[in-house]
This record gives sequence, C-alpha cells and structure tokens, in this order.
Amino acid sequence: MARNKIALLGAGQIGGTLALLTGLKELGDIVLFDIVEGTPQGKALDLVEASPIEGFDAKMRGTNSYADIEGADVVIVTAGVPRKPGMSRDDLVGTNLKVMEQVGAGIRKYAPDAFVICITNPLDAMVWVLQKAAGLPPEKVVGMAGVLDSARFRYFLAEELGVSVKDVSAFVLGGHGDDMVPLVRYSSMAGIPLPDLVRMGWTTQAKVDAIVDRTRKGGGEIVGLLKTGSAFYAPASSAIAMAESYLRDKKRVLPCAAFLTGQYGVDGLYVGVPAVIGAAGVERIVEVELNSSERGMFEKSIQSVRGLVESCQQIAPHLG
Ligand code: APR
Repeated sequence: MARNKIALLGAGQIGGTLALLTGLKELGDIVLFDIVEGTPQGKALDLVEASPIEGFDAKMRGTNSYADIEGADVVIVTAGVPRKPGMSRDDLVGTNLKVMEQVGAGIRKYAPDAFVICITNPLDAMVWVLQKAAGLPPEKVVGMAGVLDSARFRYFLAEELGVSVKDVSAFVLGGHGDDMVPLVRYSSMAGIPLPDLVRMGWTTQAKVDAIVDRTRKGGGEIVGLLKTGSAFYAPASSAIAMAESYLRDKKRVLPCAAFLTGQYGVDGLYVGVPAVIGAAGVERIVEVELNSSERGMFEKSIQSVRGLVESCQQIAPHLG
C-alpha cells in the first residue's frame, strides 16, 4: 500500500516541527510548502537527513508550487504570520485572511479530497475563511486549538496534583482566545472529577482558578517569553494527534474547532468543541450539558468568534 501524503502549508516554526513529528511517527510522505524560496527545500532536506538516524522511511520534499500538494490525504496549514509580544491573536486577521484565501485556492485545486487542519490564528476565524476558500465539506476542515488548550490545562493540573499527565483528562470549550472555557467540571484525574479532588484536599479552588486563568493565557505566556514568535512544539504535537486519528481512523474524541450546525445553539461558525475524528473527518460532535455559569462563559467566547468572522466578512464580502 502506498504511503499517505501529507502536505504542510507553511514551513516556519510549526511547519518544520510538524514535518519532524510526521517522520518520527511514520505517518506518510511529506511535502513542505512555503512562499519563501529555499526555506521548505532546506528544511525538508535537513529533516530527511535525520531519517537514517531516527530510522524512519519517508519522502520529504520542499516546494514553492501548490501543484506539488496534488492528491494529499492530509493538509496542515500554518501559513501566515504569528503574533509578537503585546499582540492578540485577533491582530493577525487582516494579514492572515489573505493568506488563507491563497492557501484555500491551492487546496481547492490540488487537494480537494484531503482532511484539512488549520493552525493559523486567529484560529476560529481563519478556519472559517479556509473552508470557504477551499470549498471542501465542513466536516473535512477543522481547526487545531482545543487539543493544545486542553494539553496546557492537563499539564498544569498534572503538575499541581503531582501525577502523570497520562492520568489527567481535561477539556476546553469555545474559541481559541483568552475567553476560552476550560471546563473544570468535565476535567478529571483517573476518572475522578476535579471538583471532587478539591473536596478531597488534593488541591484548592484558588489553585484551580489560577490554572484556568493560566490556561486561557497559555499562548500569550509563551509569546512573552519567546519575544520573536509564538508557541510551536505543542501546537505541532496537537495537530499531529488530529491527523493521526483521521489517517488511522482511531475515532479519538478531541476538542477541535468544528463547524457547528445548531449544536450548542450555534449555527454556521467554527467553535472549539469535543469531536470524534475518524476516516470521515469530523464524524460526531459531543454536546455536553453546560450549567448557567459555563453557558455564560461559552456565550462570551462565541461573541468574540462571531465578531472576528464578521470582520472577515467585511474585508472579504465574497466569502459570504
Ligand atoms: N503562503 C504560504 N506560506 C506563507 C504565506 C503564504 N501566503 N505567508 C507566510 N507564509 C509562511 C512564512 O513564510 C513562514 O515560513 O508561513 C510560515 C509561518 O511560519 P512562522 O512565521 O514560523 O510561524 P509559526 O510559528 O509556524 O506559526 C504559524 O500558526 O499558531 C499560529 O499564530 C500562529 O498564525 C501563526 C501560524
């Protein structure tokens, strides 16, 4: 059986890390695309030269031509600009919207059967633009945010509880902004809900609140430290988990920006929700019950996403 083909659109910090992880996990052959000449070619060659040491077999090729992504099974999009200290993800809209239109046209022409994962920020609006520009069915176009946000939440909780990250389950709902909704009630250690752990004295409500706040601002914390760009290792890992679930039909339940058609009372927007990712793309959306305070936070997050999509519609009315 031929290997899967994975196209990485954007060969920057996340793109390079995605290529490395794809190789290490032997998910398929890789085409690394960028508008900058030499960067994808150089990165692809450098990475494939690691293959004899790491022991993986994959073709890796850098390109500046969309024609080379032809027939890709998975496309992961990181093309665009990252934020700098003091910027919010929303400050990137104008620039990255145009990039999504170009990238979408390339996907439409050469990889219409792919499963497309968008990472470019502001995520919930950019994945909306990308789906329109590419013209693929909404269940085949998703945004990566929830896996990353919940991984940050899980890591902070595991550190606080003093247990393995493997035994901490957590998820985050809503848009990929500072008003995302880390769901404390639906987070657990080995199946024991977090509120019970507070009652059992494993941690305190104040510490949980601080972790929720740190999770919300997790991206900004990294930008503040790096100063020249944004997070790339954990975002790349997150997207690879989604790609793997699709390619191997694992049907993992992963929080991701999925197109909602009435779930959670939202219609026509991409919003972070838990979803089953399998061979058909987004196969099912998990609609959990929210209490009034969670619902309030979720609504606030949706308002931000809606505002960003409206800005996109003003800049590019043809997107509809
Ligand atoms: N077409 C293709 N590639 C492009 C285009 C374009 N129109 N415009 C920019 N790029 C490329 C850049 O040349 C660069 O190599 O996108 C790449 C982006 O890489 P980085 O600047 O290193 O950014 P990265 O950290 O990978 O983040 C990419 O993901 O998390 C988000 O906010 C982040 O939007 C940003 C994206």
